[in-house]
Amino acid sequence: MSSFWRSLLGFLGLLKREAKLVVIGLDNSGKTTLVNHLRPARLASFEVVPTVGLSVETFDLGKLRLTVVDMSGASTYRGLWETYYRGVQAVIFVVDASDKIRLCVAKDELDAMLAHADVRAGAAPVLVFANKMDLPGAVDPGECSLILGLPAITDRAWQIQASNALSGEGVDEGVRWLTQQLERAQADGAPGAAAAAAAGGDRR
Ligand code: GTP
Ligand code: MG
Repeated sequence: MSSFWRSLLGFLGLLKREAKLVVIGLDNSGKTTLVNHLRPARLASFEVVPTVGLSVETFDLGKLRLTVVDMSGASTYRGLWETYYRGVQAVIFVVDASDKIRLCVAKDELDAMLAHADVRAGAAPVLVFANKMDLPGAVDPGECSLILGLPAITDRAWQIQASNALSGEGVDEGVRWLTQQLERAQADGAPGAAAAAAAGGDRR
């Protein structure tokens, strides 16, 4: 499409804005189940299996056309995460809130992601899902936030959202926050700019 038509459709609000987003977190935290919930019904799969390497797909969500990179959380594949950080406009970090022991490992991975040069180069907002809230002993989002050290994140917007990816509870609320961040940043013309301006977290 020529830049003229792109500008015109964009001006008329008819062109979907594109955004790249990575979904990371330890294995078994529920990333693929969560992404499955976001897919249009016709693309949703009935069976979710552990991801091998990663899976990339593009689908529309509201006014956005999202390219979603769903990474495997298995330790052998975690080294792959960073190869998708360049140009990323948003990060979804999923933790299994019922697995308190591994929240510390999740924190290390989150810290490594935030310290990566390609992530630091932008202000991609970070949405953390405290997933599997339906399971007994699940740590509430406030405590998860403290264990993960979220209040120390000051260079970008972040949010923690309780979820049950199986039923979809909490997923739409979290993603609504993220799409608002993306739309605001894109309206400002600099991906992540609004997020940086609004840096600071919130928990639900
Ligand atoms: P990897 O691809 O191996 O990194 O795992 P993943 O993070 O993509 O996890 P996946 O979505 O494959 O889910 C792992 C298991 O947890 C599956 O059996 C899911 O059905 C289950 N699961 C995911 N979300 C929830 C949840 O909110 N509650 C419960 N009870 N189970 C969940
Ligand atoms: Mg997966």
